[in-house]
Amino acid sequence: MSTEFDPRDFRRALGNFATGVTVITACTPDGVQTGVTANSFNSVSLEPPLVLWSIMKNSGSVEVFDNASHFAVNILAADQIPVSNHFARPSDDKFAGIDYEKGAGNAPLLQDCSARFQCENYQKVDGGDHWILIGKVVAYDDFGRAPLLYHGGAYSAVIPHAGVKPKETEASDAGQAKNDKRLADNLYYQMLQAVKRYQASYQPMQLATGLRTIEARMLLTLNDFDTLTTQDLEERIGMPDHDLQAAVETLCRKEWLARKDDQLSLTTAGVEQAETLWNIANERQKEVFGQFSEEELATFRKVLEAV
Ligand SMILES: Cc1cc2nc3c(=O)[nH]c(=O)nc-3n(C[C@H](O)[C@H](O)[C@H](O)COP(=O)(O)O)c2cc1C
Repeated sequence: MSTEFDPRDFRRALGNFATGVTVITACTPDGVQTGVTANSFNSVSLEPPLVLWSIMKNSGSVEVFDNASHFAVNILAADQIPVSNHFARPSDDKFAGIDYEKGAGNAPLLQDCSARFQCENYQKVDGGDHWILIGKVVAYDDFGRAPLLYHGGAYSAVIPHAGVKPKETEASDAGQAKNDKRLADNLYYQMLQAVKRYQASYQPMQLATGLRTIEARMLLTLNDFDTLTTQDLEERIGMPDHDLQAAVETLCRKEWLARKDDQLSLTTAGVEQAETLWNIANERQKEVFGQFSEEELATFRKVLEAV
């Protein structure tokens, strides 16, 4: 079997694996510091405490990590998309305007993360076009904030799976029943359950068009505007620049999107495709909300807006 994959296609397939997002930082003995957005982070060993991540061999930051004694892993929280985008761009001074403190080996530690791991260099392994950097954790902070996720080339957030027990099943145990009642009365829990059920039937309908979720979101967003710059679009749908460019290329190849300088707009075929997507969205909405009166829906909208 050939292993000469199309790199774009291969990368997209790998994107089905949801990860967190980190910014990995380091500082050389002469004070040169860097930070790189990375989703290749993973835990390796508890005893000794080891973690790893990989850096592209052609990254402008490789030299800093080579010369530094330590690196710090900053696990980003859900509201840190701008921090992720910032550290994903090459820059002469990645820390201009960024709040940080210094950790082991002077590696910068960012504010408001979910967790931070300070590591001393342990091993550097050749990993094809990347270097795999393994670090031994010497200190860590566990803030427990909800994390930022990266999935299918876009940022995402966690919706907890609050139990898998079907609604109809009666709990036999009295204590359990009491807990379930409290959960069932909790509006936050009810909203989460409702969103999950709504999505469960909606997403397969959208995928049946042959579009990936993120491409569908781009078409739906662009359909609301005559033109948008790539930066506007990036901000509206929460995609890192690199992934957005790749998705734009795909949609341009399919002739659904036209690019003029930095301006993006839908072609006639793109508008048609977006209409199909809106029809699917409306159909699902009708299926779920069609049973309610105008008055009830007005109250529902009012509550949602207030929340
Ligand atoms: C979500 C996301 C994950 C990334 N993961 C990695 C990674 O694991 N390793 C890597 O070398 N680059 C990764 N990048 C790209 C780097 O952040 C980017 O190339 C780098 O910061 C560019 O600056 P440099 O000049 O320091 O290389 C990722 C980018 C994004 C947006």
